[in-house]
Amino acid sequence: MARYTVTGGAGFIGSHLVEELLRRGHMVRVADNFSTGKRENIDAALAAAVRDGAADAASRLEVVEGDLADLDVARRACAGADYVLHQAAIPSVPRSVQDPIASNRANIDATLNVLVAARDAGVRRVVFAGSSSEYGDTPTLPKHEEMPTDPLSPYALQKVVGEQYMRQFTRLYGLETVSIRYFNVFGPRQDPGSPYSGVISLFIKWLLAGQAPTIHGDGEQTRDFTYVANVVDGVLRACEAPRAAGEAINVATAGRVSLNELLRVLQGILGTSLTPVYGPPRIGDVRDSQASIDKAARLLGYAPSVLFEEGLRRTVAWFRGA
Ligand code: UD1
Repeated sequence: MARYTVTGGAGFIGSHLVEELLRRGHMVRVADNFSTGKRENIDAALAAAVRDGAADAASRLEVVEGDLADLDVARRACAGADYVLHQAAIPSVPRSVQDPIASNRANIDATLNVLVAARDAGVRRVVFAGSSSEYGDTPTLPKHEEMPTDPLSPYALQKVVGEQYMRQFTRLYGLETVSIRYFNVFGPRQDPGSPYSGVISLFIKWLLAGQAPTIHGDGEQTRDFTYVANVVDGVLRACEAPRAAGEAINVATAGRVSLNELLRVLQGILGTSLTPVYGPPRIGDVRDSQASIDKAARLLGYAPSVLFEEGLRRTVAWFRGA
């Protein structure tokens, strides 16, 4: 049994990490300011772990409420932890364009505090939520980790800085860190409640309500949509993998699906046939995104276990039942 802190553990991806860690019998501390995270996500994670046989899960779960941009909160979050999974962020490209100062505080100030706190607490390893948006518009696909980053938005820049801080803490202080670059993660508990929400959660919400989805641009932009269970697998492998320290590693499916195609597949699953509304392209948007996952295979032994369509089916089932 190890002690894990999941920052942003009340959020979408964070709560799935919490769920799996509880299932595996670990001690889990959630640190969240509940700005976008929700208590019901933690409750759902706990309930799922208990349902799967982890009867004592509640006794292994602790919540620290507070803002990690406050160093004292970061210290409380990291005290006694073996591993820190730093997922807390304001994870939206357009929101960062709208309000770069708020997203800088959440994505950089808080990250530096978590690193300092983890270093001082003697944490074994920090795993950071990086982003495919760091690559920007590269002419070559798939995107691999040797490519230079080219952030097109404050959000992408903040993730680059976060990663560089990770690497620097490994070099300067010997704190082991790994950055996992996420590619358009989707799944149950992704919140469709804001215009900044992930596109799959928004499309499902609209289609279930019988409303036409909006597509920004011509819909031929592509993404490597990744079901959340794959990310959980990659992140937990990154905690232990001996050669991963100091590295940035893509975790995705290595596929590429256009928004038009996404909508077609979703309408097939839902049995709807709504015509989308096409609007202007979104500023700061990347055109194409597809991951190479060779490095993840090599360093983490990772391979995607739930592919795009199966992930969509599971997500739709959750939205229908929620
Ligand atoms: C997403 C993540 C970001 C992550 C990045 C890389 C979210 C909210 N953002 O950014 O945290 O770092 O992937 O993994 O999950 N679109 C529409 N109609 C809509 C909404 C979006 O056409 O109603 C389009 C967007 O213009 C974009 C694509 O769908 O081209 C994906 O958008 P979005 O889900 O917001 O994700 P990213 O910006 O790619």
